[in-house]
Amino acid sequence: MNPSPTAAPDRPNPRPHLRALAALAVALVATLFAVSCATTQNRTVVMPPTVGGATYAGSEACSQCHETYTKQFPSASHAKLIARGTNAVNVGCESCHGPGSAHVESGGAARTIVNPGRNPESCFTCHSNLRGQFNLPNHHPVMEGRLGCAACHNPHKGDAMRGGGTAMMSASDVCISCHKAQRGPHVFEHEALREGCTTCHLPHGSVNQRLLTQRSAVLCLKCHFQQQAAPGRIAIGAIDHTPFLSRGTCWTAGCHEAVHGSQVSNSLRF
Ligand code: HEC
Ligand code: HEC
Ligand code: HEC
Ligand code: HEC
Ligand code: HEC
Ligand code: HEC
Ligand code: HEC
Repeated sequence: MNPSPTAAPDRPNPRPHLRALAALAVALVATLFAVSCATTQNRTVVMPPTVGGATYAGSEACSQCHETYTKQFPSASHAKLIARGTNAVNVGCESCHGPGSAHVESGGAARTIVNPGRNPESCFTCHSNLRGQFNLPNHHPVMEGRLGCAACHNPHKGDAMRGGGTAMMSASDVCISCHKAQRGPHVFEHEALREGCTTCHLPHGSVNQRLLTQRSAVLCLKCHFQQQAAPGRIAIGAIDHTPFLSRGTCWTAGCHEAVHGSQVSNSLRF
């Protein structure tokens, strides 16, 4: 069996009739998804992942061996994707893991089912707009396999956004679990961090270095208003910044390098 998340298998399938059946099942399920995903505004739905020769077994089949997952799953954001109606197959688990019949029949043999923890392609079948974000010049190395979507998202239970909804952990705690240098407490905190890391960083990818939302002083000036102190003089926080603003960004010109908070400098100098 070929657990490829893409439609192209790397070996020819020796049983074309099974292949045709699988294609039919995929087409059917794709239609169901198209219906169930129709309420989401701008997300394109293409096709669920495929496993060569396998057909859809339904989430019920998974519960025999993966009860912890199937029990929690109704609380997951993605559980809303289960197709409804009399002829609908319950395809919850397989929307990300691909058709599971080969995996189920083999008693859970390795390499018979898609694991999006290793390859995010199955997420892109529905979230196709995100592929481009992970290919931007600066990005979290998901395509490189250094971290998976599940580092920041819950596929199996609760809010898909880790740290979202009623979770004990905040969205910033998720980031800090890997980026320890940004963890407080700092003697001099930067209040901007209370609004979360995504105030200044794009989580998936960015054209700007360090995944920043803006590459220039605009990043800071959206909160720190400039005042015209005198003709041609710019004041920020009552200090004349005119000579500083031409030196570089607020955080690289040797002025506010401790942008996440400082132990020594109340002006976040270092
Ligand atoms: C007959 C028991 C059985 C059934 C039914 C079953 N699995 Fe598994 N599954 C296993 C076993 C055993 C493993 C291997 C676990 C391990 O090595 O840690 C596994 C592994 C997996 C993995 C990890 C695969 C990998 O390569 O990393 C995924 C994903 C998975 N199952 C999903 C499913 C889904 C979805 C279903 C329902 C369509 C399902 N399983 C049905 C027994 C089963
Ligand atoms: C929204 C997509 C999505 C859905 C729906 C989904 N999963 Fe998963 N599943 C994932 C991702 C992503 C991983 C990898 C998690 C990781 O790497 O931490 C995974 C991993 C797994 C694994 C392997 C865990 C391991 O130890 O490697 C099993 C087993 C599994 N899922 C079973 C299920 C079952 C059963 C269902 C249905 C109740 C289900 N999944 C529904 C995305 C999904
Ligand atoms: C079958 C299509 C499909 C697949 C496959 C899929 N998603 Fe989703 N996803 C959706 C839809 C539709 C929504 C919107 C659900 C809602 O609004 O409640 C969604 C919502 C989300 C959200 C929450 C967005 C928000 O605004 O709160 C995240 C995060 C997410 N998906 C991540 C993933 C990841 C990671 C994977 C792969 C492991 C994945 N999805 C696979 C269809 C899919
Ligand atoms: C480093 C953490 C991180 C990783 C890794 C990550 N995400 Fe996200 N993702 C986020 C955060 C944070 C948001 C919320 C962005 C916001 O609120 O501005 C988000 C938003 C989303 C959304 C909803 C908004 C949108 O752009 O449609 C989807 C869907 C999503 N992510 C899917 C994925 C998929 C699929 C992967 C893996 C290919 C992934 N994410 C990897 C942190 C991450
Ligand atoms: C699972 C661990 C993990 C999580 C969670 C995580 N990151 Fe990362 N982050 C990484 C890795 C790995 C890199 C790439 C570092 C490299 O290339 O050396 C990275 C890179 C970055 C960079 C660019 C660093 C640089 O030097 O250019 C920023 C900024 C960043 N992450 C912010 C965030 C934010 C914000 C969040 C939460 C939404 C987050 N990260 C969640 C692992 C993680
Ligand atoms: C007020 C805007 C702002 C907020 C909020 C913010 N950052 Fe940053 N971050 C920056 C800037 C600016 C840089 C670039 C610093 C540089 O290049 O020297 C940066 C750089 C980084 C880097 C790269 C390593 C470094 O320190 O240069 C990581 C990792 C990072 N931030 C993670 C986070 C995390 C995690 C959070 C949330 C706890 C967060 N950031 C919140 C502005 C911010
Ligand atoms: C989300 C809003 C927000 C953003 C974006 C933001 N800040 Fe702040 N910053 C604050 C708040 C609120 C304070 C505390 C009140 C004050 O001093 O204005 C603060 C305080 C500061 C201070 C300490 C001022 C003092 O003397 O006490 C410095 C320095 C600073 N910010 C620099 C920056 C830099 C550099 C950037 C861009 C990388 C930035 N800020 C982006 C909201 C923000």
